[in-house]
Amino acid sequence: MERLVVVGASLAGLRAVQSARRAGFTGSITLIGAEEHVPYDRPPLSKAFLAAGHDGEAVSFHSADELREQFGVELRLGVSAEALDTAAREVHLPGRAVPYDGLVIATGATPRTLPGADGIAGVHQLRTLDDAVAIRNALDAGARTVVVGAGFIGSEVASAARKRNLPVTVVEASDLPLSRSLGLEVGAVCAGLHGAHGTHLKLARTVSGLESQYGQVTGVRLDDGTVLPADLVVAGIGVTPATTWLSDSSLPLHEHDGGLLCDSTLWTGVEGVYAAGDVAHAVNPLFDDDLMRLEHWTTAAEQGAVAARHALDPAAAVAHAPVPYFWSDWYEHRIQFTGTAHADEVHVLRPASEGLLALYRRGDRLAGALTVDRPGDIMKFRRRIAARGDWTEALAFAERKDATPRG
Ligand code: FAD
Ligand code: NAI
Repeated sequence: MERLVVVGASLAGLRAVQSARRAGFTGSITLIGAEEHVPYDRPPLSKAFLAAGHDGEAVSFHSADELREQFGVELRLGVSAEALDTAAREVHLPGRAVPYDGLVIATGATPRTLPGADGIAGVHQLRTLDDAVAIRNALDAGARTVVVGAGFIGSEVASAARKRNLPVTVVEASDLPLSRSLGLEVGAVCAGLHGAHGTHLKLARTVSGLESQYGQVTGVRLDDGTVLPADLVVAGIGVTPATTWLSDSSLPLHEHDGGLLCDSTLWTGVEGVYAAGDVAHAVNPLFDDDLMRLEHWTTAAEQGAVAARHALDPAAAVAHAPVPYFWSDWYEHRIQFTGTAHADEVHVLRPASEGLLALYRRGDRLAGALTVDRPGDIMKFRRRIAARGDWTEALAFAERKDATPRG
């Protein structure tokens, strides 16, 4: 193995590079990224970066010089991979082919856009640093904000706008935020957080059109005919795995979302090719071999490292069976989740006013746990899930904790 190529220069791609060097790999590493920027951290973009007075600096993990000098990386930034030839073992860039012995695909996901938004200023999605700069500028100008989608992006952007005391309405197609993924009770708690902070929520509503004047958005028309005045519209309506460049390759893609299918070692089934992060569906042996594609930071970081080690030494590849984890900040509240929410039962132990705790049961096992404002608790449940902990025991543990005053 002489040449490792990583496509996608963000979190999973960077962790792939770092873990390859940490594993003692001395061959060449080429890191290819469509954005001009060196890898930077996305979570702050919907949080601190949008706060009034932020200096506008992205949180880059390393400078280009550090990447070259510390990690011996050949950087190809501002360049999109256009195709993959798995027979010749080459990644095709405009005008040249990059040969590989091992390949990690970490191209992440692309945000869905609102129909009819093309050419209208003031309508954004939030994925990249450039998106975040545009949104922050609009907030600095005091924009009346309409957010479409009460998922993670929408809810965090609404929080940021409310912290500046700007008027915000969130339009969400389903009956409650996050209820499809985390359950009705948790969805109701999340809706309550918006209401308590002065964000208007329009639930079970969709957008039927955008209104504009002189090319600048002025309002959002809903399916019931209401028009919400807006200077800034942010669409947080989900993402699609970034695999269009692989459509002519022999790699297996998911029939619904086009994500890359992998086994539990993050192998795509094609020699030398592994995948990591938001782009990858991976089998997780810890949860009955569920195929999981997660869109969260910790998964991307962990999978990036694992995929590179396995690409360098396929014979030593072992199943990766992580307990997923994510956090999200809504107003001054921290939501944390670990495990899987694909469960038979959701049991809410503590009301939201006292810091929510909800446990998710699958069969007789603890499968997931969600907390709001209980940062000290979540990892205790993560450990239990990793150990395939018993449900009854987990409930008893949670109830004992609940009887103990917090602090
Ligand atoms: P990405 O970060 O999407 O990076 C993929 C990279 O590949 C991109 O730079 C893209 O330009 C590049 N690329 C795509 N196609 C090509 C191509 N053909 N050729 C070359 N390069 C290509 N998660 C949490 O757990 N907690 C949070 O609080 C949180 N906050 C977030 C806030 C925001 C605003 C966003 C956008 C995400 C947040 N996440 C959070 C999710 C987390 O950041 C992602 O899960 C993580 O960034 C995924 O990393 P990745 O490397 O797989 O993909
Ligand atoms: P999401 O999938 O979390 O939420 C999308 C929401 O939009 C859903 O509630 C859905 O019902 C709604 N929706 C879809 N189409 C709609 C429409 N036409 N009209 C109204 N509502 C509609 O996706 P989101 O929030 O866009 O986030 C994108 C990505 O960023 C995800 O990968 C997410 O994991 C990641 N992210 C993660 C964060 C975290 O973990 N804290 C924070 C910010 C982003």
